[in-house]
Amino acid sequence: MELFNTMAREGFERVRFIYDSETGLRMLIVIHDRTLGPALGGIRFFDYGSEKEMLTDCMRLAKGMTYKNAIIRRLSNGRLSYGGGKSVIWGNTETDKTTPLLLAAAEAINELGGEYFGGEDMGMTVNDIEIMGRKTRFLAGRQETHFQGRSRGSGNPAPVTALGVFQGIRASMKAVFGTDFLYSRKFAIQGLGSVGMELLEYLAVRAGAANITVTDTNRDRLTEAEKKYPDIKVIEPEDHSQIFEEKCDVLVPCAVGGIINDDTIPLLQCRIVAGAANNQLLEPRHGEELRARGILYAPDYVINAGGAINVETEMESGGYDHDKARERTERIGPLLTEIFTEAKRRGTTPEKITDEMAEKEIQKAKN
Ligand code: NAI
Repeated sequence: MELFNTMAREGFERVRFIYDSETGLRMLIVIHDRTLGPALGGIRFFDYGSEKEMLTDCMRLAKGMTYKNAIIRRLSNGRLSYGGGKSVIWGNTETDKTTPLLLAAAEAINELGGEYFGGEDMGMTVNDIEIMGRKTRFLAGRQETHFQGRSRGSGNPAPVTALGVFQGIRASMKAVFGTDFLYSRKFAIQGLGSVGMELLEYLAVRAGAANITVTDTNRDRLTEAEKKYPDIKVIEPEDHSQIFEEKCDVLVPCAVGGIINDDTIPLLQCRIVAGAANNQLLEPRHGEELRARGILYAPDYVINAGGAINVETEMESGGYDHDKARERTERIGPLLTEIFTEAKRRGTTPEKITDEMAEKEIQKAKN
């Protein structure tokens, strides 16, 4: 009953379990709230430890999309208006992800008749989405070369995500230091994947920041970065958790979630935490603790909204427009400034202000 009670209490609309004996598909589609439009959120492929873990993760992610999409509605002046949903497929990406299984997942999405739109997420590639596109049109984030009538897919969202994070870092610096002049500041980036590497380029080349420390659990990523940017300082994979102790102005998490927790908060030597990773705070109270330590936190679902903005811009009737996606993403900085100012005025955390802002956007639409 515990999870059913949570579903009712937290306003979930629908949870679908899908099992297909022929392909071995074990999938969940969770629709949290469609007040603002059809539910939109990625498809995650992950080898969960238990059914409960799978359901809890999918519910948390679906609700998170309701909030992120509400903020995106605001950033796009109401042009991009989607509700929150998510789907997860249980399995090993190496051994279980077959074409028949992806097609069965596409059929499951089709059965919802447009209530839910899926896209790429952890464990899925744009190519997997293309395969699913043979069976369903309720997908977003297609390959850039894909032609659907006159529209063109939006492709890899990471560059636009990185642009938004860069804007967010500047807004955070203005809030803390009164200036967003980057040259003399020190940055520590955790994770040099699709977003982290782009961001490194923003900081090292375009903004000319001289003082950057990076780490990744994958040595190849560090080697690639060292070749491109010989001046960076590297923390080796075996010592990757030392990034939390790095004395810097901005810690930029671009790897996994839950990294701001009881173990890491006492180690932090930064003034700002601002990065792309989803769900950086392990629990909401960790945001309060950052605030108590005088560290400014840029709420993750605002600062990393560029990726979803990119995907949602593809869904507009005129088709994908890269300039429009960038222009909307550039509004992330000013919105964060507004959030930080209000949080300071009310003596609370930026996350609290952001949640209220998202809830207001939904309430406005309801009224
Ligand atoms: P990615 O999978 O391309 O890169 C993640 C990188 O982090 C990899 O290089 C991996 O080796 C490294 N890593 C994993 N655990 C680590 C650890 N403990 N310490 C240091 N490095 C570690 O992922 P991507 O696309 O760059 O995304 C990064 C984060 O941003 C994720 O949390 C993702 O959910 C979030 N995000 C990404 C968006 C996008 O457009 N790709 C959009 C919004 C959020």
